[in-house]
Amino acid sequence: MTARSPLFFEGTEMPTAGWWEALWPDPAGVLAAVGIRPGMEVIDLCSGDGWFTLQIAKIARHVTAIDIDPALLEVARHRLNDSGAANCDFVAGDAYELATLAPRPADLVFMANAFHGVPNRLRLSSAVRAALKPAGRFAVVNWHPRPREETKILGEPRGPKTELRMSADETTAAIEAGGLERTRLIEVPPYHYAAVFVRPSA
Ligand SMILES: C[S@@+](CC[C@H](N)C(=O)[O-])C[C@H]1O[C@@H](n2cnc3c(N)ncnc32)[C@H](O)[C@@H]1O
Repeated sequence: MTARSPLFFEGTEMPTAGWWEALWPDPAGVLAAVGIRPGMEVIDLCSGDGWFTLQIAKIARHVTAIDIDPALLEVARHRLNDSGAANCDFVAGDAYELATLAPRPADLVFMANAFHGVPNRLRLSSAVRAALKPAGRFAVVNWHPRPREETKILGEPRGPKTELRMSADETTAAIEAGGLERTRLIEVPPYHYAAVFVRPSA
């Protein structure tokens, strides 16, 4: 599966240069901010090469990494194996199908750097809702809607094209339409925010 797949979300290619580590020096801090806790069942949706997945595995009871690109899942598998993490499943598939791809309902679905490319946001947020336990959380980490030329990392403009970037209000409206409620909005410097949603219990 490559970026040419019709299922591939626009502008969500994993970076090839080494700037991801410069942008995300503290993935565990981001996860703590969005509320990951020991004992949780977590889905890392659009998990890429596992930069966040590894830190999830260090905290959660279990994590399912879902990505449409099996080659990236292999990179993630090696990353977690090298660190001795054995509490992760790696599942190749389309994010819309997460409720059937994940083995169990989740306490937390984490989705970083991918929601901006989802063409059918209602379908995605409804699918996340179906994959969550009652009172489960959906945490979305998104680029702020700043012009791409302003979001420089290691001296170069980085990230998805300007037109794809979503405000926190746009993200919230799209996800609440799927039956989730926003509980928190967190600043994630230098260029991101995290919005956290809950599946209502009733
Ligand atoms: C920019 S990367 C971010 C990876 C990881 N979340 C992170 O922040 O380090 C986005 C990922 O979304 C994946 N992706 C794109 N379309 C997808 C789809 N339809 N279903 C599942 N994953 C998809 C890509 O393969 C890529 O690994």
